Amino acid sequence: MLTDQPKYILSIDQGTTSTRAMIFDQNGRKVIEAYKPVKQIIPHPGWIETDPNEIWTSVLSTISSAFIDAGIHPEDISGIGIVNQRETTIIWDKETGDPIYNAIGWQSKQTAPLARKLKDEGYSNLIHKKTGLIIDSYFSATKVRWILDHVDNAQQRAENGELLFGTVDSWLVWKLSGGKYHITDVSNASRTMLFNIHALRWDDDILKLLNIPAQILPAVKTSSELYGTTKNYQFYGIEVPIAGIAGDQSAALIGQLAFEPGMIKNTYGDGAFIMMNTGSKPELSDDNLLTTIAYNIDGDVTYALEGSIFSAGTALSWLTDQMNLIDNVAETRDAAMRSQDDDEVYVVPAFNGLGAPYWEQDVRGAVFGLTRGTTKDDFVKATLQSIAYGTKDIIRTMEKDTNMYIPALRADGGASRNRYLMQFQADMLDIPIERAADENTTAFGAAILAGLAVGYWKDIDEVKSLAVEGRTFKPEMDKAKRKRLYRGWKAAVNAARAFKP
Ligand code: G3P
Repeated sequence: MLTDQPKYILSIDQGTTSTRAMIFDQNGRKVIEAYKPVKQIIPHPGWIETDPNEIWTSVLSTISSAFIDAGIHPEDISGIGIVNQRETTIIWDKETGDPIYNAIGWQSKQTAPLARKLKDEGYSNLIHKKTGLIIDSYFSATKVRWILDHVDNAQQRAENGELLFGTVDSWLVWKLSGGKYHITDVSNASRTMLFNIHALRWDDDILKLLNIPAQILPAVKTSSELYGTTKNYQFYGIEVPIAGIAGDQSAALIGQLAFEPGMIKNTYGDGAFIMMNTGSKPELSDDNLLTTIAYNIDGDVTYALEGSIFSAGTALSWLTDQMNLIDNVAETRDAAMRSQDDDEVYVVPAFNGLGAPYWEQDVRGAVFGLTRGTTKDDFVKATLQSIAYGTKDIIRTMEKDTNMYIPALRADGGASRNRYLMQFQADMLDIPIERAADENTTAFGAAILAGLAVGYWKDIDEVKSLAVEGRTFKPEMDKAKRKRLYRGWKAAVNAARAFKP
């Protein structure tokens, strides 16, 4: 343990609907957390955008709040780690720093026709082999194409080298460094659908296919290294090392200390993201799971298999914001406990299509099994249960794909605080759910990456010694009920898939 250096690591966790700044001490304990919501802009149904400048100011204001509330000085920070919502796409002017369009969110659907066209033209295999991904509007590639097509003169300016593209990590590093570094890390690059996960570089064939000029792309770095420092005028007059970058799901895997192949986590955030560490070789899935880069620490790339549910926490906030069924998301647990229904209402919250293992971008949400006696508590419970059912769809697919039995699932993210959901998840999967002591494993992952790079922690073994045990939920449901409920879910999803108005 080093003693003569500043005492904390600052993590920035820039998510879809909020930004968090957290400060960690040398024991890996969170000293403070500051939070700010980020407004979603919906210019058309199904399009989800954000103002990149609001993303940036939310980062600045949460950092300030964290320093003020904890009484910590910026000089006490040894390094900064950044984790971010992945895939979300920003293009900005290299000289002025002005974004030329809103950040197009990962859930946004304006490029669904373009993704469909690429599939129809037969590029699925090529894209899967090179990037590990399924062609979908989820990933950055079609969003870049859309911005270059829809903003006046953008293609020409991109070709002239006047514009820069980045996922949110690139944007934040560029801002923090006063425009000095245009970089990303391998985990974020692997979510663009432009990155060759075997050769570990931007893929010329895909760039050509989409007519995306290579000069707009960031340099791709490892997830843990000294990339550079903050520009003094952007960070309290001082230069602090920026030393860790990862996509938020990779960071959660790291924060869960899932460094060994076969370890698996589910982050119950706005979506639910299940990621399995598969070690040093990319395993291409036969069952519609994504092969992605988990991280690169010390020059060694670790790959992962991933399956995601697009609407998890989002479905719970829909119950409050849109449906007005409850006042806040925390109430979902009590509502679920009050419900007397025999679990036969099914909500399929496919607001933005279905993710793994279906990958059907045009499916929309549906509700099944309503009776005259259905109450709002039943409805809330069914929405919570949908997250656990969707997780089961993915875990079953992962087991089939890898020929491995998954003995336990590590859980984190906001909705993992919901005890009803965790118990129902254990019941539905029939395996224990090991919930992290602190739900913010994502930010902890960023701290680990930055901390390792600046020598705040010596190595991964030291990081592992910081582990704090959380709570385990053991399965209690009998087999017949589990089978009956899951059969109902499958019927509901299939009916939603078949619905073509
Ligand atoms: O792939 C999208 C994911 O990285 C976004 O996560 O929970 O910040 O919305 P979240």
